[in-house]
Amino acid sequence: MTPDLLQQGARRVAERAQQTAQKTESGGRETSYGRIANPGEVDLTHGRILYLEDVSVSFDGFKAINKLSLDIAPGELRCIIGPNGAGKTTMMDIITGKTRPDEGSVFFGSTIDLLRHNEPEIAQLGIGRKFQKPTVFEHLSVFENLELALKMPKGVKASMFFKLDSRQSDRLAEVLHTIHLAGSVRVQAGTLSHGQKQWLEIGMLLMQDPKLLLLDEPVAGMTDHETERTAELFLSLKGKHSLMVVEHDMSFIRTISDIVTVLCDGAVLAQGTLDQVQADERVIEVYLGR
Ligand SMILES: Nc1ncnc2c1ncn2[C@@H]1O[C@H](COP(=O)(O)OP(=O)(O)OP(=O)(O)O)[C@@H](O)[C@H]1O
Ligand SMILES: [Mg+2]
Repeated sequence: MTPDLLQQGARRVAERAQQTAQKTESGGRETSYGRIANPGEVDLTHGRILYLEDVSVSFDGFKAINKLSLDIAPGELRCIIGPNGAGKTTMMDIITGKTRPDEGSVFFGSTIDLLRHNEPEIAQLGIGRKFQKPTVFEHLSVFENLELALKMPKGVKASMFFKLDSRQSDRLAEVLHTIHLAGSVRVQAGTLSHGQKQWLEIGMLLMQDPKLLLLDEPVAGMTDHETERTAELFLSLKGKHSLMVVEHDMSFIRTISDIVTVLCDGAVLAQGTLDQVQADERVIEVYLGR
């Protein structure tokens, strides 16, 4: 091959690489079949909504997450269990952009590189997160809290002139029903029980119609009855949303789980049905040994 041809070939390769980089603004890579995903679109052609691969993070030399790899299918309700300090909350911090890993990759669908986005952008992309402590607006009614969840991403000025359209009103009514609060629309959030506040906060997330919901110890502090109703709620969300639920309450996990992932020392120790992982010697050891 002549030097000329070599140079032309190199130029073509460079041009193609540049075109790809320009098209994938979301920080993505090419989808399958060479299709380029639109920015923000979640590409599910590989049957996975969330991928973590070889993710590690250290805090002052301590490896809280250690080569963690895990993936979740669209519509799946994945339960995550593991002893205290296993890295469950830190994993959610990484997915939502609160903590940056030292290494590894985190993708939303096949093309959206979450490590190239900050916390608000990740929420906008369709990943909702529920922390353990309920954070509803106590002085506002149930209705106003849900309405506010729609206003919040729009900024102060747009919020002042914000009015629910009919589609949003329908969505609000649907969410009220889903979270078992249809009979408490005008009730001040501060007077709700702990469990009802948790449901209201989940409702606020649902108003944004997230594709993936991360829930950290959602039934902690709930009564048995509230826990049962939360299980019904999560089962009703499965299929419409993808859910990742971290919990220590095993009877709750038994009611809602298909696949359970056990985390330990920042990595996956075991995965399978609850019966399978509970029969696993390594799992028994980490639970009994601490
Ligand atoms: N910001 C931080 N700085 C220092 N250490 C941290 C930080 N965040 C987490 N850790 C440590 O990382 C480890 C994992 O913590 P993490 O909160 O993720 O565990 P967990 O599995 O959620 O536990 P639990 O079941 O008790 O909620 C712990 O040893 C914790 O002390
Ligand atoms: Mg935690």
